[in-house]
Amino acid sequence: MATIPQNEARGNFGSLMGFVMAGAGSAIGLGNIWRFPYMTGENGGAAFLLIYLLFVVAIGVPVLFAELAMGRASQRNPVGAFTVLAPGSSWGWVGGLGVLTGFCILAFYSVVAGWTLGYLGMALSGTFAGPVDAERSGAIFGDFVADPAMAVGLCILFLTITAVVVRGGVQKGIQRTTSVLMPAFFALLVLLAGRSLTLEGAEAGVSFLFAVDFSKITPTVVVQALGQALFSLSLGMGAMITYGSYLDRKASMPLAGASVALFDTGIAILAGLIIFPALFASGADPSGGPGLVFVVMPTIFDAMPLGGVFAVAFYLLLATAALTSTISLLEVVVSYLVDERGIGREVAVWGTTAACAALAVPSALSLGAVSGLSELPGVGMGFLDLQNALWGNYALSFGALMICLFVGWRWGVQPALDEIGASGQPLPAGAVWGALVRFVCPVAVGGLLVYIVVTQNYF
Ligand code: PFF
Repeated sequence: MATIPQNEARGNFGSLMGFVMAGAGSAIGLGNIWRFPYMTGENGGAAFLLIYLLFVVAIGVPVLFAELAMGRASQRNPVGAFTVLAPGSSWGWVGGLGVLTGFCILAFYSVVAGWTLGYLGMALSGTFAGPVDAERSGAIFGDFVADPAMAVGLCILFLTITAVVVRGGVQKGIQRTTSVLMPAFFALLVLLAGRSLTLEGAEAGVSFLFAVDFSKITPTVVVQALGQALFSLSLGMGAMITYGSYLDRKASMPLAGASVALFDTGIAILAGLIIFPALFASGADPSGGPGLVFVVMPTIFDAMPLGGVFAVAFYLLLATAALTSTISLLEVVVSYLVDERGIGREVAVWGTTAACAALAVPSALSLGAVSGLSELPGVGMGFLDLQNALWGNYALSFGALMICLFVGWRWGVQPALDEIGASGQPLPAGAVWGALVRFVCPVAVGGLLVYIVVTQNYF
């Protein structure tokens, strides 16, 4: 296939650094700071971390390059990428499923993102002043999420901020915001890890995170670790296809992809080093579920000088990290509507945001505000948890499987490797990558999904 020229009008990240910041901005978010710690806490600590890391290397990184290559080669959104690279085929529906997945992830992600705004407000107004132990912190969280107006209002506020940025387009809107805020976030996390690790009783948290107990590994733990690896790297639904389409051909894709993967994984581990030492020091419960970070963090701020200032900085940067991720989720849907459906960017942005806000409402009300949504009959979990598992684990795993099958067996490993190396820097160990995409990923991910369906061990 002839190379598709890049189109300046479509928007482009101005430089490799700009791409890395936006790509890392998409990858680094609530997945690292909120989802990773509570999944690790619920699934046995180190055992989960080990499998997660294995999946990042063996599945996440190969899928990341597959998506970036598809995006840059096709110069399209997820649906267009499949149809351009396999003309006349029906592969486009995989991209369509990705767009739907992005939309549904955005609808629960923005609820948690809204909480970060609420916590920012509470930090500013001194709610966490005075001794904050795990019990008091838990009560603050419980009251906060059970307030329906708060939960829904903050989520809609967050979606609106996302829409305003995405409306601005690729370079002006997305890149400018991410380039400044990601480095600041990283610096603050290192500082907080330093404080958490020196708390009295911190060692128990470190060994929870690093001392592996293999008896904790079950098929459900494995599928959650796979989902988390994909979720954290923004894979399996086309976000990296979309961002790949904005990466300049002169920029080194191997370097861009490796940087994003390293930053993202490093930050997840850093978040673990903040949460678990503090959790064990304060006596909170590791399997505390989606409220975990929100309950544990105030106890750290309570135990540090200038804690109030650090709390404000932390929630501000967490909200920003969430924003750089919601931007990419919304951008996937918008780029599809603009490229494939010919809808104007403005209409696409606001229409998608409104629909997403509607779907977000039941999630926002599922942590105590409406009891029927907090414990869905027959599922044993709340609406937000169900969305999280359905879209965040299963849809992404299925999407990653289809992307590997497509690149490995339909589009082809060689054209993908050519695109990855188009700047003149080839992917090191390209043959290994090809084998992972063609054989290892499909067998591992496909096998796991089939096993889960057959044994009906879904959650
Ligand atoms: N990777 C993001 C996080 O870890 O918070 C979440 C996410 C963003 C998932 C974009 C998928 C996506 F397309």
